Amino acid sequence: MLEEWFLLNGVFNIGDWIPWLSFLDLQGYVKRMKALYKKFDRFHNYVIDDHQTRMETEKDFVPGDVDLLAGGTDTSATTIEWAIHELLKHPHVIEKAKEELDRVIGRNRWLEENDFPNLPYIDAIIMESMRLHPLATFLAPHYAMEDCKVAGYDISKGTTILVNTWSIGRDPNSWDAPNEFLPERFVGKEIDLTGSNFALLPFGSGRRRCPGYNLGLKFVRLICCMDLI
Ligand code: HEM
Repeated sequence: MLEEWFLLNGVFNIGDWIPWLSFLDLQGYVKRMKALYKKFDRFHNYVIDDHQTRMETEKDFVPGDVDLLAGGTDTSATTIEWAIHELLKHPHVIEKAKEELDRVIGRNRWLEENDFPNLPYIDAIIMESMRLHPLATFLAPHYAMEDCKVAGYDISKGTTILVNTWSIGRDPNSWDAPNEFLPERFVGKEIDLTGSNFALLPFGSGRRRCPGYNLGLKFVRLICCMDLI
């Protein structure tokens, strides 16, 4: 079900781009999304029935479970895959990262969560990989709640907004040598990953920013380190 969910979220749906054709659902994606929604609904009902001890109020949160399931699985895995992909293409980066791990952790103890602030190069690798390969190329679709202006363009209330983080991350106005994998660009710099730097938005920004960024980053850091050892 999650695979279908991710596929349908990523597909090019003609009706989204040519709204007057939307009602025809030419590719059948809307039909598939509705069928999947029903399946998730049945799944949730099953989980709720199974957990008799749940308090009545908790049921209000259940629709968000799909988001949490989807947000908490493939996201970290895909981010890690991209980081490993870049590492394999850049063996000298692996060497530098191993050197950092050996220097900070050594070979005689386990890596711990509170070691991460002392591993700036590992963090730089992750940031650089997220800059080039943000998981959600267009973030999640947002909705303009009122008329506004963005970069001189008039956006009317009700418009669907797709933020292209992929191209923002490769914008030569914000980044030198934007298409190159250079973790060094982040070393010694205080660059935020979680939404205050608009040139780098792998988790989005503002109130709809990814609520799981902390957990997601923990997974990514930990597994990248494990792969390097
Ligand atoms: C490296 C891992 C992750 C990345 C790169 C990532 C990225 C994102 C992005 C780009 C968004 C959309 C933000 C926007 O449109 O402004 C999002 C939303 C969301 N993420 Fe994550 N995420 C990750 C991990 C997680 C984890 C571990 C969880 C939960 C356990 C999670 C739960 C969610 C939820 C529930 C939303 C929807 C928030 C809303 O619509 O208000 N994510 N994530």
